[in-house]
Amino acid sequence: MTGPLLRVEALSRVYGTGSARTVALRGATLEVRAGELVVVRGPSGSGKTTLLTLAAGLDDPDEGAVWVDGAKITGATETEGARLRREVVGFVDQEFALVPFLTAAENIELPLRASRLAARERRARTREMVDAVGLSDHSAQRPEEMSGGQQQRVAVARALVHRPRVLLADEPTAQLDSATASSVISLLAEHVRRHGTAALVASHDTSVAERADRVIEIHDGRLRG
Ligand SMILES: Nc1ncnc2c1ncn2[C@@H]1O[C@H](COP(=O)(O)OP(=O)(O)O)[C@@H](O)[C@H]1O
Ligand SMILES: [Mg+2]
Repeated sequence: MTGPLLRVEALSRVYGTGSARTVALRGATLEVRAGELVVVRGPSGSGKTTLLTLAAGLDDPDEGAVWVDGAKITGATETEGARLRREVVGFVDQEFALVPFLTAAENIELPLRASRLAARERRARTREMVDAVGLSDHSAQRPEEMSGGQQQRVAVARALVHRPRVLLADEPTAQLDSATASSVISLLAEHVRRHGTAALVASHDTSVAERADRVIEIHDGRLRG
């Protein structure tokens, strides 16, 4: 038996000071194991993005720590944090965060550029992900030439292409119509099963919660699972 691939321990984050002080996360603790899809569900402003951003090591908590695949990402050096985000973590940003001057296929291939894969294998994997998210006819388009839903699918494909052990997805179906949302969440869930990924997905979409192994509620920065 191996330990959890994602471990979040007593995580707290406060933004601002004085009258602008907001406690965004209050002692959040959770674990996600290999092959498990966990959904964190809560209203707007409840702390979902804060939780995922901290879990990805993109920001530091005021208290607590996060481990990905056994490595402490909280307080890691810049080099080690960057390595963990590149090799261990896949992140679907709520705002997509695509590179504007790259095509859909080039955006998706990006995480593989830093890998040791041969160019041919990189292209094959990229093509596989482009097809899997239904963007075969749009692979040469840049983000500004795509709809919000297409951009969201690029963001999901880019987060999965390097087969990360830990997947963090922030509202990955928010911009999608229900049919596309359901195909994206199916793709995500199948990927998690096939590759034994640990996935933490923020969403208030019921079709996403239906595919989850566990649903954790978040309210005012507090988890209730
Ligand atoms: N950078 C920030 N500076 C100040 N307050 C923030 C910042 N990011 C988030 N917040 C506040 O923290 C709380 C949680 O936000 P967030 O994690 O984005 O929630 P959710 O993703 O569930 O909508 C909200 O009250 C939000 O206004
Ligand atoms: Mg959010």
